[in-house]
Amino acid sequence: MKVPSETSPLLAELTLEEKASLCLGSDFWHTAPVERLGIPAIMVSDGPHGLRKQPDEADHVGISGSLPATCFPTACAVGSSWDPQLARRVGEALGREARAQGVAVVLGPGINLKRSPLCGRNFEYFSEDPLLSGVLGAAMIDGVQSQGVGTSLKHYAVNNQETDRLRVSADVDERTLRELYLAGFERAVRKARPWTVMCAYNKVNGTYASEHDWLLSTVLRGEWGFDGLVVSDWGAVHDRVAALAAGLDLEMPPNLGVSDTAIVTAVGAGQLDERALDAAVARVLQLIDRATANSEPPPAVDVDAHHALARAAATECAVLLKNQDHLLPLRPTAGDRIAVVGEFARTPRYQGAGSSQVNPTRVDVALEELRAAVPDGVEVTFATGYGIETTDHDQELAAEAVALARQAEVVLVFLGLPAADESEGFDRSHIDLPANQTALLSRLADTNPNLAVVLANGSVVRLAGWDQHAKAVLECWLSGQAAGGAAADLLLGAANPSGRLAETLPLRLEDTPSYLHFPGEAGHVRYGEGIFVGYRGYDALDRQVSYPFGHGLSYTSFDYADLTTDLTGRHQDGDLGVEVTCRVTNTGDRRGKEVVQLYVRDPQASVARPVRELKAFAKLDLDPGQTAVVELALTARDLSWWSTTLDDWVLEGGEFELAVGASSRDLRLTTTLDIAAPPPPATLDAMSTLQEWLADPTGSALLREAVGTDEEGRPKGILGNVELLPVIGNFPISTLAAFPGLGLSHSVVDALIDRVVAI
Ligand code: BGC
Repeated sequence: MKVPSETSPLLAELTLEEKASLCLGSDFWHTAPVERLGIPAIMVSDGPHGLRKQPDEADHVGISGSLPATCFPTACAVGSSWDPQLARRVGEALGREARAQGVAVVLGPGINLKRSPLCGRNFEYFSEDPLLSGVLGAAMIDGVQSQGVGTSLKHYAVNNQETDRLRVSADVDERTLRELYLAGFERAVRKARPWTVMCAYNKVNGTYASEHDWLLSTVLRGEWGFDGLVVSDWGAVHDRVAALAAGLDLEMPPNLGVSDTAIVTAVGAGQLDERALDAAVARVLQLIDRATANSEPPPAVDVDAHHALARAAATECAVLLKNQDHLLPLRPTAGDRIAVVGEFARTPRYQGAGSSQVNPTRVDVALEELRAAVPDGVEVTFATGYGIETTDHDQELAAEAVALARQAEVVLVFLGLPAADESEGFDRSHIDLPANQTALLSRLADTNPNLAVVLANGSVVRLAGWDQHAKAVLECWLSGQAAGGAAADLLLGAANPSGRLAETLPLRLEDTPSYLHFPGEAGHVRYGEGIFVGYRGYDALDRQVSYPFGHGLSYTSFDYADLTTDLTGRHQDGDLGVEVTCRVTNTGDRRGKEVVQLYVRDPQASVARPVRELKAFAKLDLDPGQTAVVELALTARDLSWWSTTLDDWVLEGGEFELAVGASSRDLRLTTTLDIAAPPPPATLDAMSTLQEWLADPTGSALLREAVGTDEEGRPKGILGNVELLPVIGNFPISTLAAFPGLGLSHSVVDALIDRVVAI
């Protein structure tokens, strides 16, 4: 049982009842005070992309509105920025607003992996890749906590769907957990030390995350050194005593009169070790100490500056998916006409629904921003084109839009998902844009080929079937309250797109690696695709996709050269490192940003491994003609896989392929590297197969010695029978001991095991 190193002296003064009360909130958003000892209540509020502080007179069930706050780009957008500095800056602003409003802990960021494009909360998560999720999550935590405000890294763990989210058991093998679903959390916890971690609603392999001793205590605290507090997701606790014993410190919202009584009773009856309660209370007191450490008056928030940051951030997040004939940026001159089509240009969709919904301080409207930014004499016309709340194809609206498109030099079509299509609380059943939007698009394209689509959606949408109608597609995601201004900046070239896909855009929903296993049934969702999540799956299956992970264009171009690798240290000494460098040059005529991505492959692995895995990246900002040397570092862990047999990371020596490029399928430079590593320790026993014994150098030597050789020095028994060896080589050695004539009697096998165990 791990207790914070600085245990509050107040702990000793608390009664059992007071201790129990501290392990629950006092209402929907506050911890419990102990007035007698001057222990204050502190307030927590959602959420990851803007503060959702409910006023005191609110409904106290957390559903009604909140005080105005800056709505920054949602996580799906920030994920596409591939920019930890940006995530940090957004975090700082969020932390400042939280402090100004007296909020001690911001409930975010959420870093669950996007396992399926159907997950209703994908807009709240960064990526299908754990490195990208972990790096951005850590940066956001750093930013918020630099303001003296805590974060709650959520939802720990394996919360990748909304269907049956409070009960479903996510059934995942440990290798997949370690390499994929826990890896981002591990990075964020180790690097950024969040004040709190929020446990997920779901079960993991049959046990509620809130009661999961292995997740909360063994891994999170024991292995990763987490020293903060674990809070429940809102309503995730079902057995307060079991949860406390497993390492869950704070229950929210409080089940008052039930959970506190259960704790007191369990301690009294000797069913709950009081030291477990003390450890939880110590962590609650530590959180309160951290939250109240800064006695300076809260900062004033510069609402305009935060809006400007939201706008700059949104420009970094948009992904230019295609740009035929360099249609974008637009370069209108006096007398030109730009037709803007689509209700989303006038009624922006910029955030998702549910617990992360922010009451914005203001909202930029793309149509107005475009009109304000075009040069004098340029006319920006507008037609609604379609209704947002319907999928019916309204012929009148379409005809009006087509007429405008006919008279324009260029058509900007704003498309996207209606709010009702994606939200916390439910998963989608398809990934299509509404039919009225795509039908309109093909009519517009028949009228005017100079057509660019601007997308607003929180989870991926299918592009195959309609993107051939557009020369350019700009994916803006749900980019916060300044999304409209950012879109105008990008379309007119005041900003250069620099977002890259943090998730694959599939050709069809049916192609997605989790398709057959999502969202499960009868209370279980089987993670049958294992480690092959997102691009790891598409690449392993060699599936075509619409746009691959890591893809994104710019208004300039980049050239890659001179890939070098420098190997330092040795794996057996624990200091192995690989320094990778390459030179990247901006070969175009405007300043722009490139995301250099480093992928690793282990072609000789003894287990199934992805074709490539992102292991490092860097975002560069280059002037025309400028060259930068990018330095990317790898550690042994980046080359390793998780062995459930050894319960450890394994680096298998041999050849590795390293590739740098502009996306997972646009690898510009590749090299190979030989890495020496001692063979992983053998775990041979009576159930190990003959082949496994022979594959291990030590086991093989012992086995050969035990079976022996004939007078001419040839191996005896099964080892000399080259026809039979491949046929029964996959039998456990103990089974073969009962087969006559193989040279493997029970006494030989027993002696072998004794010798192996003794090593
Ligand atoms: C969500 C959390 C959120 C909490 C408090 C829950 O329903 O899953 O992400 O922080 O509510 O609003």
